[in-house]
Amino acid sequence: MKFDTPAGANPIDRLTVIGRPTDRIDGPLKTSGTAPYAYERHDAVPNPAYGYVVGSAIAKGRITGMELGDAKAAPGVLAIVTAENAGKLGKGDYNTAKLLGGPEIEHYHQAIAVVVAETFEQARAAAQLIRVDYAKGEGAFDLAAAKGSATKPEPKIGGPADTAVGDFEGAFAAAPVRLDETYTTPDQGHAMMEPHASIAAWDGDRLTVWTSNQMIDWGVGDVAKTLGIPKEKVRLISPFIGGGFGGKLFVRADALLAALGARAAGRPVKVALTRPLMFNNTTHRPATIQRIRIGANRDGKITAIGHESWSGDLPGGGPELAVNQTRLLYAGANRMTAMRLAVLDLPEGNSMRAPGEAPGMMALEIAIDEMAEKLGLDPVEFRILNDTQVDPEKPERPFSQRHLVECLRTGAERFGWSKRNPKPGQTREGRWLVGLGVAAAFRNNLLVKSGARVRLDARGDVTVETDMTDIGTGSYTIIAQTAAEMMGVPLDKVVVRLGDSSFPVSAGSGGQFGAASSTSGVYAACVKLREAVAQKLGFNSAEAVFADGQVRAGNRSAPLAQAAGEGGLVAEDTIEFGDVTETHQQSTFGAHFVETAVDAATGEIRVRRMLSVCAAGRILNPKAARSQVIGAMTMGVGAALMEELAVDKRHGFFVNHDLAGYEVPVHADIPHQDMIFLDEVDPYSSPMKAKGVAELGICGVAAAVANAVYNATGVRVRDYPITLDKLLDRLPEVA
Ligand code: MOS
Repeated sequence: MKFDTPAGANPIDRLTVIGRPTDRIDGPLKTSGTAPYAYERHDAVPNPAYGYVVGSAIAKGRITGMELGDAKAAPGVLAIVTAENAGKLGKGDYNTAKLLGGPEIEHYHQAIAVVVAETFEQARAAAQLIRVDYAKGEGAFDLAAAKGSATKPEPKIGGPADTAVGDFEGAFAAAPVRLDETYTTPDQGHAMMEPHASIAAWDGDRLTVWTSNQMIDWGVGDVAKTLGIPKEKVRLISPFIGGGFGGKLFVRADALLAALGARAAGRPVKVALTRPLMFNNTTHRPATIQRIRIGANRDGKITAIGHESWSGDLPGGGPELAVNQTRLLYAGANRMTAMRLAVLDLPEGNSMRAPGEAPGMMALEIAIDEMAEKLGLDPVEFRILNDTQVDPEKPERPFSQRHLVECLRTGAERFGWSKRNPKPGQTREGRWLVGLGVAAAFRNNLLVKSGARVRLDARGDVTVETDMTDIGTGSYTIIAQTAAEMMGVPLDKVVVRLGDSSFPVSAGSGGQFGAASSTSGVYAACVKLREAVAQKLGFNSAEAVFADGQVRAGNRSAPLAQAAGEGGLVAEDTIEFGDVTETHQQSTFGAHFVETAVDAATGEIRVRRMLSVCAAGRILNPKAARSQVIGAMTMGVGAALMEELAVDKRHGFFVNHDLAGYEVPVHADIPHQDMIFLDEVDPYSSPMKAKGVAELGICGVAAAVANAVYNATGVRVRDYPITLDKLLDRLPEVA
């Protein structure tokens, strides 16, 4: 089905199942510990062996020798695979560095060997006996130092490196009120609960990998390409995923080395990346340096806005798209954005939840707060004053829906914003300095082609099959809701099977496009199934109403199940979106409000209250969507106050590569959270009239925290994370 905008009325609009806050249909499996995650597929293969991955001890250079003898002779060892004995390997489209390095080393903890043994402990013990000699090369590891050599990249996604409208420099110079500040965001790790893990089994020349992966079709393609075998010979199965955040968009070393290990050992092999290996072996969100310049008239109207961002990546990598939101969020006749990319020999940079906007909004929304203060305007009002209903770079393109102003107003009202003292450092409660902060939320709405197959059986049960994944987001449930709504059956008559490359290719989970795209694919397949049912039962498909397990038209009705017959009825389709963004800009909007308290003596920061208001099209399941936003708000607090991969700039690696050193919020760090969805339906996005929400929820949160800390203390921190050492010597005198 080709999607034509705007979507007309359709069965989804009935909202008998869609739009309801139903519990997750996979909840019982998850809570009883019986959902089969990648490493736990005990039923999948009998008698697997265990692979242990060895990572490079240098960041750049060459392996000059590898002594495997002792390891090979160690108890239980079945095989050791290195680049030397693995045979010719290619490289996947979605990997920048090789998944199995050697002799050239591209980054620290790049995999250089997998040891396969009868038990995990034997594999781990033998791995310690491998001796590697290196010739260490010179690498670049410091973004600030490499900034000067950064060049203009050609981003593969997310628009051009540079944009310009009007005369930015002239308008900025002429503006009576100006801001010119630089903000930095650190490298961050995905730190999802479930590590990267795979079980690989060969049957002749056919490979099956049970893994934990967000994008099944990309994964199949990259495994095939890396091993140099046809795509048809590879099957990926990933029905349950313990978190991804973008770290599992691509197959990683676990999948490849399980496959190579299994081939060498002649046995199925399971490989999990150990937590200390993950941070440097896999991808991360790259650090940024961002310069923002804003010029405004004294009445608060922005006349010039400029945003430049520098980030680094391995050769062949891409930039962090941190200027993306600045192209669309605020009005202003004269504008420029630019991204520059430096070569860094740190581990591979790539997508992490809301790549681009997440770090971009961390900077922009502090800058907007600073600008409001310079203008003597309330930061909510300053944002509203500079709202735009059209793409400010291409004014002929309106937004499909844009309710930023409503989000800000609703949030301000509900949060008690009017009680905020605009003068910072004024509100004391005992030892605590208390402040309120606000930030806008913005994330583009992406749509990706997505397919599904639906089957009706003689009992009236509907089974959906698609290679869509559920990374903890609720895909199973919203897909079941979609099929139930379309076919007119209750939710418990729908079975959903996901994450298997033998099913139709879906959008996968990424870029907050999963929910709207994958349910639209299911919608398309259901439209076909409804037509087949109507024809079978002798109804005019345009008139037939599917409800309560019946098909009705005029005064005739028939049970849905009757159409299935003995053999069942199957339909398959793929939704294709074309360039739906040509006429309308599609984005999602929100507002974040935060109250923080800062210990006046120690600088300890506590987040005390949070509220987010989101406008993201039709909300398919308010309970699942709320969980996504609550989780995103939590992750935003981590970005504001804790998360930072500390770079060893001499040796080129992330030092704090475990969950003891890489801090993320725990329950005790997070206060009462509230969130509100605005009632929005976006017919330009999809037949579901829904948009993405999971990444919107993180965009802007950290800046709202930063702005609240400023309001509390009068200390403006522009370098994330806002740790107490950055406040301590600048706090107001304690009386
Ligand atoms: Mo998301 S960072 O595209 O999984």
